[in-house]
Amino acid sequence: MSSNPSAAPAFRIAPSILSADFARLGEEVRAIEAAGADLVHFDVMDNHYVPNLTVGPMVCAAVRPHVSLPIDVHLMVRPVDRLVADFAKAGANLISFHPEASEHVDRSLSLIRDAGCRAGLVLNPATPLNCLDHVMDRLDLILLMSVNPGFGGQSFIASTLPKLAAVRERIDAHVAAGGQPIWLEVDGGVKLDNIAQIARAGADTFVAGSAVFGAPDADGGYRGVISRFRAALQESIGEGGRENGE
Ligand code: DX5
Ligand code: ZN
Repeated sequence: MSSNPSAAPAFRIAPSILSADFARLGEEVRAIEAAGADLVHFDVMDNHYVPNLTVGPMVCAAVRPHVSLPIDVHLMVRPVDRLVADFAKAGANLISFHPEASEHVDRSLSLIRDAGCRAGLVLNPATPLNCLDHVMDRLDLILLMSVNPGFGGQSFIASTLPKLAAVRERIDAHVAAGGQPIWLEVDGGVKLDNIAQIARAGADTFVAGSAVFGAPDADGGYRGVISRFRAALQESIGEGGRENGE
């Protein structure tokens, strides 16, 4: 991708079901697939690692037959390892976790890949980048939180922008040195008025909960907001590409 500067970056939109109608989850995930989403972002909260409680592998398995999109499981749980196997069995395609929540980060990453899923690490707003230092070759995804995890509908934390640019540099250097591609995902407070700026900072995968599931029908509902996201992302490429000098 960015090792070839002439190639347009691939952008992915991942609606977070945290803001969906939980009484109609099957219908909701079918609707986001029909509306042009790229991934289903599945937020798992345990009331220990984060102060909220959501859904587990049983709900992932129940949703699985309703979509062909990859399911992007974001584990906000401690401990991590037991749930990796359960989510892999439940049909997850990507599984990411917070390094603070695992006693053995390298082992948890291996468990995810050994279970046939793509592996990701999630960095909270105050988590330093040095936790990436020795695991770049084990990652398929780096997810930067642009809010503190636990709730949808919070405001984007601006210091995520320079952090994204710094991670983009690390990924590009890793790929240039022959490493595998790594997606750079951002989660929290992504809206129509900031997605272009976030893309220019280096993100390629965008989680959006309230912006998608709260989209008014009068504005075209889920399809309307996803196509406006794509238009803003296209424009961000037109405006000179990424801000870190690409
Ligand atoms: C927060 C979750 C996010 C959240 C995003 O802990 O990980 O995925 O649902 O919601 P919005 O887009 O509303 O900030
Ligand atoms: Zn999330």
